[in-house]
Amino acid sequence: MSLARRRLPFMALAGLSLLAALWAGMLRLGWSLPMLASTVPPNHGPLMVTGFLGTLIGLERAVALKRRWPYGAPLFAGLGALALLAGLSVHVGHALTAAGSLFLVAIFVLLYRQQPAAYLATMGIGALLLFVGTGLWHFGFALYRVAPWWIGFLVLTIAGERLELSRLLRPSAWGRAGFLLAEGVFLLGLIVGFGAHAAGIRLSGLGLLALSLWLLRHDIAWHTLRREGRPRFMAVCLLSGHLWLGIGGLLWLLVGNEFAAGPYYDAMLHAIFLGFVFSMIFGHAPIILPSILGVALPFRLAFYAHWALLHVSLALRVGSDLALWLPGQRWGGLGNALAIVLFLGNSVRAIVAGQGGPDGSD
Ligand code: HEM
Repeated sequence: MSLARRRLPFMALAGLSLLAALWAGMLRLGWSLPMLASTVPPNHGPLMVTGFLGTLIGLERAVALKRRWPYGAPLFAGLGALALLAGLSVHVGHALTAAGSLFLVAIFVLLYRQQPAAYLATMGIGALLLFVGTGLWHFGFALYRVAPWWIGFLVLTIAGERLELSRLLRPSAWGRAGFLLAEGVFLLGLIVGFGAHAAGIRLSGLGLLALSLWLLRHDIAWHTLRREGRPRFMAVCLLSGHLWLGIGGLLWLLVGNEFAAGPYYDAMLHAIFLGFVFSMIFGHAPIILPSILGVALPFRLAFYAHWALLHVSLALRVGSDLALWLPGQRWGGLGNALAIVLFLGNSVRAIVAGQGGPDGSD
């Protein structure tokens, strides 16, 4: 069996989590769809973060390491999501998810020992935040207390990778210190949040805002923006993602006291989850999917369609959240889900075209 085929079950687990989480998101926004299973709606957040992204990020790392044991990261993350969907005891889902995150931590410990670099430490701390967040979830903390830790996992994983690439621009020692300072403020906010939730969120928001400004200032994407085709598309995704991170951070700073439920909370979460994280996924997919699946994914102009739909619908959703206009929030949320479905469709079409299928033109 080819390597790529062996990776398909992991992709299937990630894909199942993503689709179930999207369905759950629609239900949570009030669209009247069949519930499918009572386990779907309450697990929207965990399915997205640990089931889909935990599995995908773990798989990407395992593929890069070219060893067997790191596959424990995507395996346990994916099985954890399956356990949640199957309605097994929550302890099983929590334990499997925690095991997956520990494998991810172990991967970064190994990488850091090989090359003690700030970007690997940042990504390793990100994996640790996934583990701590999962632990809090297990010990009965409400999901709105867990969410900042999981956001930390995703933000530090992505920002760590951008930090590594920014070295091509040779940032000054002060420039690099600025990144670490922003990261430190974000992490301090998480700790403060244990005693004072709203104050912790505001402080973390300040860190996120600073990180977004740092990324906007230092990202090599400004250089690749001048090129054509895939490099420019990636740059557009990255820079728009950094902007959403800043919007998210600003909201945490200004209305962090609302970080528990309701439209402001929806805006604070999804500016980052959709605006930042999914922009990165859209931008990186033409590189990551081929490395995981061993297939070509040639760039197509049509990719701008899912990028545009995501950003327009997210602007509608976040704007409506802030204006407390619920129909706009619902339609925006539907647009977000459709953008992700369109992304999946466009990616499959590009893969078919890359294999010399009938659909090879733009
Ligand atoms: C694609 C469209 C999406 C829709 C329609 C959607 C919908 C929702 C809704 C309605 C809530 C409840 C907010 C509240 O309490 O007021 C929520 C919460 C949440 N969402 Fe999303 N969401 C989407 C995408 C995402 C993505 C991409 C992620 C993560 C990568 C994510 C992670 C979360 C988390 C962690 C929570 C809080 C925990 C929870 O209540 O389950 N969502 N989402």
